[in-house]
Amino acid sequence: MSRAIQAVRGMNDLLPGALGHWQRVERCAAAVLKAYGYREIRLPLVEKTELYVRSIGQVTDIVEKEMYTFEDRNGDSLSLRPEGTAGCVRAGVENGLLHNQVQRLWYAGPMFRHERPQRGRYRQFHQIGVEAFGMPAADLDAELILMSARLWRELGIGDVVLQINSLGTAACRAAYRGTLVAYLEGHRAVLDEDSLRRLHTNPLRILDSKNPALQGVIERAPSLVDHLDPESAAHFARLRSLLDEAGVAYVFNPRLVRGLDYYTRTVFEWVSGALGAQATVCAGGRYDGLVEQLGGRATPAAGFALGMERLVELLAQGQVQAACGEPQAYMVLLGEEAQRRGMVLAERLRDRGVSVECDAAGGSLKSQLRRADRSGAAWALLLGDAELSAGLVSIKRLRDHGAQEQEQIPESSLAEVLASRLAP
Ligand code: HAM
Repeated sequence: MSRAIQAVRGMNDLLPGALGHWQRVERCAAAVLKAYGYREIRLPLVEKTELYVRSIGQVTDIVEKEMYTFEDRNGDSLSLRPEGTAGCVRAGVENGLLHNQVQRLWYAGPMFRHERPQRGRYRQFHQIGVEAFGMPAADLDAELILMSARLWRELGIGDVVLQINSLGTAACRAAYRGTLVAYLEGHRAVLDEDSLRRLHTNPLRILDSKNPALQGVIERAPSLVDHLDPESAAHFARLRSLLDEAGVAYVFNPRLVRGLDYYTRTVFEWVSGALGAQATVCAGGRYDGLVEQLGGRATPAAGFALGMERLVELLAQGQVQAACGEPQAYMVLLGEEAQRRGMVLAERLRDRGVSVECDAAGGSLKSQLRRADRSGAAWALLLGDAELSAGLVSIKRLRDHGAQEQEQIPESSLAEVLASRLAP
């Protein structure tokens, strides 16, 4: 036997038994997004590398060290998407969706970053992302936050904390930059290699450093929020008052800078205390400059993305069992004639919306019942010679219901009886 090939490190198979929570989040998110008027968009997994350099920023962890970049056969530099915002803006500009229009869009799918894999951090991970265009007021920022808060409520997730900050405009950041560099120069001795390199290229990134040795210096650094231009300050004040009015609790975190360069004004993260080091389940903010930066006409925009793996881990911790596509009924078919009849009967049940798996391996009653149990179905439907000649089907509840009696139901009313017993 030759050696088995394994998956790429940090890229995981999602097996049928684990998908219950995934499907629940997907269903719930689709319903919540629809309720706010967001429409789905599907985008390529691969884009020109330049798109990410121009949007996420040259001096960021993602672009400097985490992208899966390769040359295709024409010699063009392409990258697997590390996130969805840049591709969404590119598609919006290219397809004329943005100019003078309001758009509310969402997407879902895998993203790729060559990070060091650990709990909650993978090289292929999945996001549900939301991007809204053409709305400059803080009301949109509030809508995005309220929408994510509604999703947590619907999913039964209670222990996530909202952190917010304002990064102002590019102009006020440029002014603040001078103050920050002067301060950091004064603490040069403490800075690590990454921070020294960024001191004159992207000093704000230093505030995002996770290096414990830098935390003291970062905490005492001057705050960007004290250097906001009047419009940005008013925008932030309005967002806070809208959140207060809607009863959404938040923590103002002046150190929240995010790892991507395109943000302006509002940034936010939802953080859980139950996930260890990779605690952010959802993050986003406003990016009023990005559309123009990518060749479109200036268009205000904001959005967020949630990390599916982290959200699913939170749900799994909640011990809530989610159905993962198990059939509702399993047909135990004893003999050739029962197999023929069973197939017809199963079709009739599916017409009534009951999901049915038919035994296809045959064998004794005992071995088929064992497979029925393993399928996760709630009911076993038994068809043998006795049932066939009497026009009946025996039905039996499976699993946690003790030694349940078998019942016999006329074949003609089986669909109705089962549908009523399966009703929630
Ligand atoms: P981000 O903060 O890079 O933002 O990612 C958003 C979320 O994706 C994170 O909060 C986290 O839950 C999840 N995530 C990120 N990297 C990984 C990883 N390696 N493994 C597992 N989960 C991960 C963005 O991507 C922006 N595009 C969000 C946005 C949309 N801003 C505006 N619109």
